[in-house]
Amino acid sequence: GECDHVECQRKYIPANKHHFPPPSKFHKLSNSLCMKTSRTRLSVLAFLLQYTEKEEVVLWMNTVGPYHNRQETYKYFSLPFCAGSKKTISHYHETLGEALQGVELEFSGLDIKFKEEVMQTTYCEIDLDKAKRDAFVYAIKNHYWYQMYIDDLPIWGIVGEADENGEDHYLWTYKKLEIGFNGNRIVDVNLTSEGKVRLVPNTKIPMSYSVKWKKSDVKFEDRFDKYLDPSFFQHRIHWFSIFNSFMMVIFLVGLVSMILMRTLRKDYARYSKEEEMDDMDRDLGDEYGWKQVHGDVFRPSSHPLIFSSLIGSGCQIFSVSLIVIIVAMVEDLYTERGSMLSTAIFVYAATSPVNGYFGGSLYAKQGGRRWIKQMFIGAFMIPAMVCGTAFFINFIAIYYHASRAIPFGTMVAVCCICFFVILPLNLVGTILGRNLSGQPNFPCRVNAVPRPIPEKKWFMEPAVIVCLGGILPFGSIFIEMYFIFTSFWAYKIYYVYGFMMLVLVILCIVTVCVTIVCTYFLLNAEDYRWQWTSFLSAASTAVYVYMYSFYYYFFKTKMYGLFQTSFYFGYMAVFSTALGIMCGAVGYMGTSAFVRKIYTNVKID
Ligand SMILES: *[C@@H]1O[C@H](CO)[C@@H](O)[C@H](O)[C@H]1NC(C)=O
Repeated sequence: GECDHVECQRKYIPANKHHFPPPSKFHKLSNSLCMKTSRTRLSVLAFLLQYTEKEEVVLWMNTVGPYHNRQETYKYFSLPFCAGSKKTISHYHETLGEALQGVELEFSGLDIKFKEEVMQTTYCEIDLDKAKRDAFVYAIKNHYWYQMYIDDLPIWGIVGEADENGEDHYLWTYKKLEIGFNGNRIVDVNLTSEGKVRLVPNTKIPMSYSVKWKKSDVKFEDRFDKYLDPSFFQHRIHWFSIFNSFMMVIFLVGLVSMILMRTLRKDYARYSKEEEMDDMDRDLGDEYGWKQVHGDVFRPSSHPLIFSSLIGSGCQIFSVSLIVIIVAMVEDLYTERGSMLSTAIFVYAATSPVNGYFGGSLYAKQGGRRWIKQMFIGAFMIPAMVCGTAFFINFIAIYYHASRAIPFGTMVAVCCICFFVILPLNLVGTILGRNLSGQPNFPCRVNAVPRPIPEKKWFMEPAVIVCLGGILPFGSIFIEMYFIFTSFWAYKIYYVYGFMMLVLVILCIVTVCVTIVCTYFLLNAEDYRWQWTSFLSAASTAVYVYMYSFYYYFFKTKMYGLFQTSFYFGYMAVFSTALGIMCGAVGYMGTSAFVRKIYTNVKID
């Protein structure tokens, strides 16, 4: 069920044998929704990852860090562990995604050969002095875990253990590896930590390992299945929430279309009746409602430059989310370190024309002249926000010597992508957008003099509408947020991208419905400032998501420390902002189609 972390830990760490993750039965419960479709890339990998008899198998040491702060990681050898005597065989090249995610593979120096059993062997000794002991004690007190890789399969192990009263600290010194093979491929790895040794200063602690090879029936394509946790991700609550949101969508769409159809029909009837009255009658009759603002409704929004940049960026984020989720559904992206992030960066760069197109054309429609400035702001808004946060967090990471600190070369690579890929593609999009759909072909002319906005009830004020607008969209996604957060901040691998896709679609529909209703009420109150209102009322979803992330931090995780806290809240802010801009753009696009439609159908003299 729902896995509180303490409970998880207890479950995952039995008294003295340590398996991670726990053996889980893989229910093939309607996997059509989950992601088990194409295996093409994996079969190519399967061909590459074949071993011959006695071929070297490399055990890579990755990172070590506190169990409760999953994203706070340090190099494995930042703790005074010792390495085996074998020298490094080859240098490991990181991909961009790995470098950004703090993957730090280092050779363990252990001698492992394919299908060659190794009895318990001491590979090195730790010369424990006071400083080293303190380092280990600190790690054990903070429940440090380390992570290793064999043949791309992750292995987790625990550093040590304290006794009940917390005075004596013990280190696990014996790594018992059991490797399952199927034909000439590795399909399964289990690590059992044994050999508890008390940490006493000025002693030598021998570190040992053993390797056992077992024939296994697991297919190579399914070897990551044991890391997935279907009982968590396909829990009843998850299905129920999807179903719930789905019902909400049907209800909302029905409601919106009914209200709008009926009221709009009434409005049209009223307006056409007024049309037939002569001038005298019309002066006496009380004209009111959204038709009154026809001369202002297509007036450019305030701050058109920022506004169109936000809309362009939002459209880009939407297309990135859509494409990345589809790619993740088709390919098992979780099987490769950092590939999700690399894919996202690549797709973001490739979809830059979308940003330029929508931002540029909207800016041209609103009569903007400084289009080059708009293009720069639109292109660099999101990268600047992400890099700015990363830069800030990087300072803290460097101070803590965390492996999360982004290397200088990676920063240069990201900057190059911004200037040499994103900017030119954005330029192409902007030029296309300005020329293809940059004409302000609105159904009504804009009056020279803006109409005064009449007094209205407090709940019709744009600020109130903006605050209320985000509630329903947030309600449709917050359970999914729990699963996404848990896979990012705790040890779960997110793999149910089918769910995520459904939630994205639901979110978009709910957002559009809500903003249309908000805009209708606003225009009916003869307030024509609908552009920012529709954008912000959809974007306020992000404020609720950010507030939810506070709840999640305090009640669902056991994170602590300056590094983890700033990392958490910094990246949550980035995530929420991006989500907000996306929702805002989706809401605005839907609303602007609606506004165009209602003013096209009414006769204006
Ligand atoms: C690893 O552990 C699981 C669960 O205990 C077991 O089913 C599997 O056979 C083990 N694999 C190997 C290679 O020992």
